[in-house]
Amino acid sequence: MKQMVMKMLKAVVPLAMVVVLGALLTACGGDDAPAGGGGAAANDGGMRIGVSMPTMDLQRWNQDGENLREQLTERGFDVDLQFAANDVPTQVAQLENMIGAGAEILVIAAIDGDSLTEVLATAEAQNIPVIAYDRLIMNTSAVTYYATFDNFLVGQMQGEFIRDALDLPNQPGPFYIEFFTGDPGDNNIFFFFPGAMSILQPFLDDGTLVSPSGQTGIMEVATLGWSTENAQTRMENLIALNNLTPGGNPLHAVMCSNDSTAQGVTNALLNAGWTADNFPIVTGQDCDIISVRNMIAGTQAMSVFKDTRVLAANVVDMVVAIAEGGTVPINNTTDYNNGVFYVPTYLSDPIVATLDNYRELLIDGGYYTEAELYGN
Ligand code: BGC
Repeated sequence: MKQMVMKMLKAVVPLAMVVVLGALLTACGGDDAPAGGGGAAANDGGMRIGVSMPTMDLQRWNQDGENLREQLTERGFDVDLQFAANDVPTQVAQLENMIGAGAEILVIAAIDGDSLTEVLATAEAQNIPVIAYDRLIMNTSAVTYYATFDNFLVGQMQGEFIRDALDLPNQPGPFYIEFFTGDPGDNNIFFFFPGAMSILQPFLDDGTLVSPSGQTGIMEVATLGWSTENAQTRMENLIALNNLTPGGNPLHAVMCSNDSTAQGVTNALLNAGWTADNFPIVTGQDCDIISVRNMIAGTQAMSVFKDTRVLAANVVDMVVAIAEGGTVPINNTTDYNNGVFYVPTYLSDPIVATLDNYRELLIDGGYYTEAELYGN
């Protein structure tokens, strides 16, 4: 990458020589030179971008990875896309390989935001810009930019949905609710969960909402690996502990931070005899196909739509700007501190998805085909 070569040269070579060498590099088709001719391809020189996704187990990361690969390739980049099976050492090894293979920019959705400090020190030493994708990478100065959705707002939307569905401001209650959030290694839960609690905590405080288990702290309600099975097991335990069944004690809502946990909760509730007619309000996020089908079946009330095409497009814009030495698009510099500094961030808006608007959002919007959503 010409920019980096220039940076290194500036450290060791007199200015006049740097100018001459810079011109030579450009003449040789330096791979970060802006592409002419219509602007479709930003990088005809095939600058190499390492894209590291956490897992193929969850639908969204497959979509994220594919969207990034497609959009970056369209812009002329050479993409090294890897999925890490939700295993931190695997992600670290894949990143080491990407760096070794000459990646010039890294785009990373971390499995555990705290576990990449060492490998990213290597990236930093080689001046490789790092974009944290969807999840912030913590405790390192090596992360250059962050692109995500407004994660606090995601949680607020879930809380507001429950508040409005139960009409909490106007009903005496008590309404019974349990809480599920995601993996403690994912910094996003520290936005999702407080976002939801910013709406619901006052109703817990005044007794309108009651948690039968009494588990309302973020660590008590965390779900390792965001796993559907772990969420299902915990919900089964909560049901057994307090007899939360249609013939037993009431349960009005389960606040789940995302769809993979919501699916586990829904499975447990169905097994306990709840049906679409009396189903507790279950929230989610991602509009996973399984969860959209659950919404249609009446066994999940809402999800939050975060269009992975939009996130990928934002990141591609960042990559292009870095490659061309242009202005990198950011719209937040005050909310995402990774323990070292406030990382320059681009936030996109999430959208509430329910039975009322899912067709418009997902099918008319070209996110899913009818066959994907309704087929087997
Ligand atoms: C993402 C969510 C996703 C969750 C589990 C979070 O970091 O923002 O969209 O559901 O991880 O993969």
